[in-house]
Amino acid sequence: MKKIISVVGARPNFMKVAPLHKAFQKYKADLEHLICHTGQHYDENMSKIFFNDLDLPKPDFYLGIGSASHAVQAAHIMIEFEKVVLEYKPDLVIVVGDVNSTVACSLVATKLGVKIAHVEAGLRSFDRTMPEEINRILTDSIADFLFVTEQSGIENLKHEGISDEKIFFTGNIMIDSLLSYIEKANQATTLTDFNLLPNDYVLVTLHRPSNVDEKQSLSELVDFLNRLSKRRKIIFPIHPRTHVNLEKHSLLDRTNSNLKLTEPVGFIDFLCLMKNAQLVITDSGGIQEETTFLNVPCITIRDSTERPVTVEIGSNYLAGIDLNNVEQIAHSVLDGRVKKRDIPELWDGKTAERIAGILCDKLNCEKNRFVFKN
Ligand code: UD1
Repeated sequence: MKKIISVVGARPNFMKVAPLHKAFQKYKADLEHLICHTGQHYDENMSKIFFNDLDLPKPDFYLGIGSASHAVQAAHIMIEFEKVVLEYKPDLVIVVGDVNSTVACSLVATKLGVKIAHVEAGLRSFDRTMPEEINRILTDSIADFLFVTEQSGIENLKHEGISDEKIFFTGNIMIDSLLSYIEKANQATTLTDFNLLPNDYVLVTLHRPSNVDEKQSLSELVDFLNRLSKRRKIIFPIHPRTHVNLEKHSLLDRTNSNLKLTEPVGFIDFLCLMKNAQLVITDSGGIQEETTFLNVPCITIRDSTERPVTVEIGSNYLAGIDLNNVEQIAHSVLDGRVKKRDIPELWDGKTAERIAGILCDKLNCEKNRFVFKN
């Protein structure tokens, strides 16, 4: 019996591991798949609600790490995850995305001689001031199996000298989750709950340190959203990091009534909000991809994106951090001027199946052998 541990830590990890967990059930005669939650995100609405929404089982290991500086957080994760690996002796550790838990657990695995699979490998913003960019580069440099979501990922990895045999273009696993739950999202009462009408509101999420940590940029963002909300209702589920900063800089009371602030919402509610929005404004990574799939215009308030396919063929506008530019694009979208989009290759809901098949093959599971054509 082969043993695999998949690591989750922060909110964007849960929807990437849920489809994998399901896909591995097909191989359960040969393979045991366990989940380790580092506890990097721990609030009910940043973590537990996703386990419920995505039908994920209770994690087999919970490390209870919580928030801290990057060094302290990564160090604690490493200390605790090492104990898990030593005790359970997995044949493979799967890490997803680019959060601190991803790199910390990869380091532990490689030092103990355990193979690593990285799901969502190869993405690069080429901005090394982003903590995620460092996490991505380091994780990819030590991973044994690199599963890529878009063509740019293959090019980036080859450019960094990663050999072809390690790279697998398997598509975007987040779209697996999106497709699995879109029907539930269609049935959800989220719009009524928030008093919104389809295609008649703007959905906003902001949490990147470069946008929300400093008073000036955050207060300029609040002013911009206040202006935009005079034209269209805005719903803004606030990430805890953003909430802390809005409070600290006394900006919470500066929002007008058409700009509705709310707690972070779960996966199904968020899917419903995204799908029905006329426009999404964000600085997240995954939301750029989900809106591209849903064909909802998305403005990304960042100077770079590690997901260029969402701009090249998707519905994403990379607006930079100049809010005049953001505002101009927002009005143009609200006026109905939107670009045509396509769905990127292999964003088809079958990514987890492909990854599970390849890994099972690589681990020499006897039954259900799968031959992958790259
Ligand atoms: C992390 C990821 C980021 C990802 C984001 C999604 C890293 C380096 N960053 O950023 O890539 O896009 O998650 O949400 O791993 N907090 C709570 N409750 C929680 C979690 C966080 O209150 O459950 C607050 C704490 O004040 C904490 C702050 O949010 O200090 C930041 O949390 P942290 O996990 O360090 O980074 P994120 O900004 O969430």
